[in-house]
Amino acid sequence: MTPLDAPSLVAFGSQHNIVIDVLKEVDSTSRWLQSAPPPALRICLAEKQTQGKGQQGKHWHSPAYDNIYFSCRYPFEKAPSELSGLSLAVAVILCRLLKELSHQPFQIKWPNDILFAQQKLAGILIECFKSPGGTFAIIGIGINVNMMPAEDRPIEQPWTSLQQIMGHPVARDPICRALIRTLPSGLACFQQEGLAPFLPDWRDADCLLGRTVQVRQGGTLLSGTATGVDESGRLLMRTSDGEQMAFHSGEAKLTMPHGKVK
Ligand code: BTN
Repeated sequence: MTPLDAPSLVAFGSQHNIVIDVLKEVDSTSRWLQSAPPPALRICLAEKQTQGKGQQGKHWHSPAYDNIYFSCRYPFEKAPSELSGLSLAVAVILCRLLKELSHQPFQIKWPNDILFAQQKLAGILIECFKSPGGTFAIIGIGINVNMMPAEDRPIEQPWTSLQQIMGHPVARDPICRALIRTLPSGLACFQQEGLAPFLPDWRDADCLLGRTVQVRQGGTLLSGTATGVDESGRLLMRTSDGEQMAFHSGEAKLTMPHGKVK
């Protein structure tokens, strides 16, 4: 167990004009940032989360010292409705960073799961709050770094970690520094130019393209062939009767040849 080097991460943040808090334990780094004082742009990292939040109201397993639990509060001069492509842009930023650090072929499952060999390596949760000048987004990122299989892990879906992929323990500080260096600048790019600059990398990493998928929307399950995403980040799907559908939210599952879903 090697703790994060908190003083050096805080110093690295101030070189980039970003306030960083490194906590030993918190319920959720994203929840903590909801009521953290100014400045608006602020990052919180924790060694452990007791109530880590995942997508669709799920729990994010957050044991101490193994993984990265990172949240960034970012002020956008846009209405929440203009941030629909943000989760895809963040997935591209994270996927680029992980590829650069580990030279592995990661993929993205719409809207923003980072996978390796169809197993989940990292998850992103974006929450938006209206503010007087626009919107605060709290971008929560969980990366499985050194977590190894154990019988009592409460994780429903197939998952992996960088240590399992690389075959050796992986230092967390360089990944945190890379997140601090690249995420706010990537968000500034999204603020200026929207999703367009991220779409080519998205298409290269899209693991659903051309595959049979099921998309759950509320209580309804729809199936068809995934045909990519549009300019605003909506998942495009063609049903068996040729209807083209577009989803701006939901959960997509791959359908395997024998009819099972992943
Ligand atoms: C998912 O379900 O894929 C999203 C997981 C997001 C987890 C991260 S860990 C840091 C931040 N704090 C939270 O409570 N959740 C996010």
